Amino acid sequence: MDLATSYMGLTLRNPLVASPSPLSHTVDGVRRLADAGVGAVVLHSLFEEQLREEAERATRLAEAGTESFAESLSYFPTAAEEDAGPRRHLSLLERAAAAIDVPVIASLNCVAPGSWTDYARAMQDHGAAAIELNVYYLPGDPRIPGREVEQRHVDVLAAVKDAVSVPVAIKLGPHLSSTGEVALRLDAAGADGLVLFNRFMQPDIDTETLTVQPALGLSSPLDGLAPRTWIALLRGHVRASLAGTGGVEDGNDLAKYLLAGADVVMSTSALLRHGPGHAATLIEELEAWMSRKGFGAVADVRGLLAVPHGTDQAAYERATYVSVLRAANVGAYSAW
Ligand SMILES: Cc1cc2nc3c(=O)[nH]c(=O)nc-3n(C[C@H](O)[C@H](O)[C@H](O)COP(=O)(O)O)c2cc1C
Repeated sequence: MDLATSYMGLTLRNPLVASPSPLSHTVDGVRRLADAGVGAVVLHSLFEEQLREEAERATRLAEAGTESFAESLSYFPTAAEEDAGPRRHLSLLERAAAAIDVPVIASLNCVAPGSWTDYARAMQDHGAAAIELNVYYLPGDPRIPGREVEQRHVDVLAAVKDAVSVPVAIKLGPHLSSTGEVALRLDAAGADGLVLFNRFMQPDIDTETLTVQPALGLSSPLDGLAPRTWIALLRGHVRASLAGTGGVEDGNDLAKYLLAGADVVMSTSALLRHGPGHAATLIEELEAWMSRKGFGAVADVRGLLAVPHGTDQAAYERATYVSVLRAANVGAYSAW
């Protein structure tokens, strides 16, 4: 069975990629994912806020140095011993890349271009085979126009593309008003990969304590529907590789993403729920399905159920939707 896959020009042994999660917080965790057979690992994200904190600390150090050299000398060792997130992150990246024989992709969480793009270069220098940009931006201010949100994605991508030579993927949220157009713009701006979709923290309300609780639960297979729809629509319209993330619970979900046209399929929740060893099960299940269906290579599966070229996509979406509703023939829908 030929599972070999090309993702952003990287050759992977199979299309299953471990997406960012607490499982990649340690080298041992990354090694366990690789031992279970994943094609690549994306490390958990380095957050822009961490970078800003370090920049502020560096400024404080520099200022202390100008005021009192002796003081700065005594201060520096303490600062260096502090939990310097970014430096620790780069060290993890370097050790993880050396520990496994599949590509390690670094993830940068960012909301706008800035000097932190230097870290993208540092990630490349510390062994990242590629960079994934996790544009985690929720426009909480209701006056922010959609165009501005979209432009941020393009600007962030352009800044990082300028800074590195390794491939750069960008992970999109599910709430853009025209995902397809944004994908085309990012493709034109040089994105090597588009990762659909990120999941945002959506705080819940605790009615007992009357407090707002941070919440990022694990996904269910239904979470795969939206990213698969967009991957099926985008297949063949962008040069960038397409990565599906969301709702992979078993090998069947993996197969669905490939049929829709994903180059790689990512998993976090299932690996957290069942342990990193579940990656081996996902791959075995994919292989069993392929052999049952007579496929010898993932390349033969990929995109078989993508939206055909030349289709009026809006009409296709609508037609599929209407035919599904008709097929469902559920009384509740008749009111629509
Ligand atoms: C606990 C947890 C931590 C996560 N951390 C990150 C992260 O650091 N960076 C990132 O881009 N995505 C992060 N994600 C999102 C996942 O990488 C993934 O895209 C999302 O959970 C959808 O995939 P799934 O349905 O397989 O979980 C995290 C998800 C969970 C549940």
